[in-house]
Amino acid sequence: MADLNPAKLTIDGQDYELPVLKPTAGPNVLDIRKLYGQADVFTYDPGFTSTASCDSTITYIDGDKGELWYRGYPIEQLAEKSHYLEVCYLLLHGELPSKEQMVDFENRITRHTMVHEQMHYFFRGFRRDSHPMATMVGVVGAMSAFYHDSTDISDEWQREVAAMRLIAKLPTIAAMAYKYSIGQPFVYPRNDLDYAANFLHMCFAVPAEDYVVKPELARAMDRIFTLHADHEQNASTSTVRLAGSSGANPFACIAAGIACLWGPAHGGANQACLEMLKEIGTVDRIPEYIAKAKDKNDPFRLMGFGHRVYKNFDPRAKVMKESADEVLDLLGIENNETLKVAKELERIALEDEYFVSKKLYPNVDFYSGIILSAMGFPTSMFTPIFAMSRTVGWISQWKEMIGDPQNKIGRPRQLYVGSDRRDYVDVSSR
Ligand code: ACO
Repeated sequence: MADLNPAKLTIDGQDYELPVLKPTAGPNVLDIRKLYGQADVFTYDPGFTSTASCDSTITYIDGDKGELWYRGYPIEQLAEKSHYLEVCYLLLHGELPSKEQMVDFENRITRHTMVHEQMHYFFRGFRRDSHPMATMVGVVGAMSAFYHDSTDISDEWQREVAAMRLIAKLPTIAAMAYKYSIGQPFVYPRNDLDYAANFLHMCFAVPAEDYVVKPELARAMDRIFTLHADHEQNASTSTVRLAGSSGANPFACIAAGIACLWGPAHGGANQACLEMLKEIGTVDRIPEYIAKAKDKNDPFRLMGFGHRVYKNFDPRAKVMKESADEVLDLLGIENNETLKVAKELERIALEDEYFVSKKLYPNVDFYSGIILSAMGFPTSMFTPIFAMSRTVGWISQWKEMIGDPQNKIGRPRQLYVGSDRRDYVDVSSR
């Protein structure tokens, strides 16, 4: 990072100089680290809309241009030419693997897909009607109890093993959470299948009959994983980093990320979006919902529209839309009512002045829910699939943070607006 001319700030007639840092791409960044010490002021930025919380070499987003790069590679190229495990290697190690490195990485992931047998009993402690995300938060957090030989964060090898275990076991845990919720037996992973096909197998196979994974569906699944693999310093990634900054073990940090992702403004939006499409039900009811979304006095929002960073289009949504068309075509479900509602809603919203002026476009969740539903996943599995795809991003960001000598515990400041100091009043006098 080359330094530019410092910025000047005047507070109460006193001048201060703030270093300006130049990133590889994106806006310059004001370095305010010494501001409090020098000027006795904090900065105020709820929601971190203008604040960089770290430096990172992993993912870059240009929200105005609608660009997303993993380690410099545009997402469209990776979605078309690469595959999820290669993307995992890239995110974790910074470079695309050689042939040998890829074979070795695939072998290591494949050999870590089973979970400790004792975990089966752990699952059985949950109610059958638990949301799979609730189960996943608990089970992933509990991994630190099952795999405590990879929780010493000061040991680089243990950090690597924890990363492998998380990437390899999350599909197994997500599939087990699903099977448990529908009362079917757990299906063990199969090492002869690739990552995506194995996940479909663990979700949809039953002991009573053969299940053959359609290669086109496995490819679409793999693409969904790739598109969700990382997304810079979003809410759940920042949660993982903040949890990790205290020295918490990687399994605990990823469980924290999963908990954050569950919210409907974040990863929970894909479930909320499909539920909304089903609630709208028929094309003729769309204007009623568009009106609700525009009404300032109505908290309703069109789920699957808008994004904090993308104010032009979401490049993942473009790829996902193509994938949705392919999957629906393959499965012969073009005339599905929910799909008709989705397509018409997209058309109307893209032409509507309210959505156009506020730059609200369909995001990745708008289409991913449609694909997953067509594949046979219930809405409750949408966010768990997002969580397992994002695990590699979380763990890459966590590893980057732990390996950074500048790393220190995250501790935001606040603008206190509560009561001034006052004396305690005894209950008899209140
Ligand atoms: N429907 C209707 N109006 C909306 C929507 C929407 N989906 N999203 C934003 N707006 C409006 C807001 O009411 C606000 O209007 P105002 O300026 O008149 O007050 C304006 O657009 C800006 O909205 P903010 O909430 O300030 O935008 P922010 O960047 O904070 O929020 C968010 C982004 C949370 C994604 C928001 O657009 C939203 O709630 N979308 C629906 C949920 C969703 O799809 N989330 C998935 C995000 S992608 C992901 O996590 C993978």
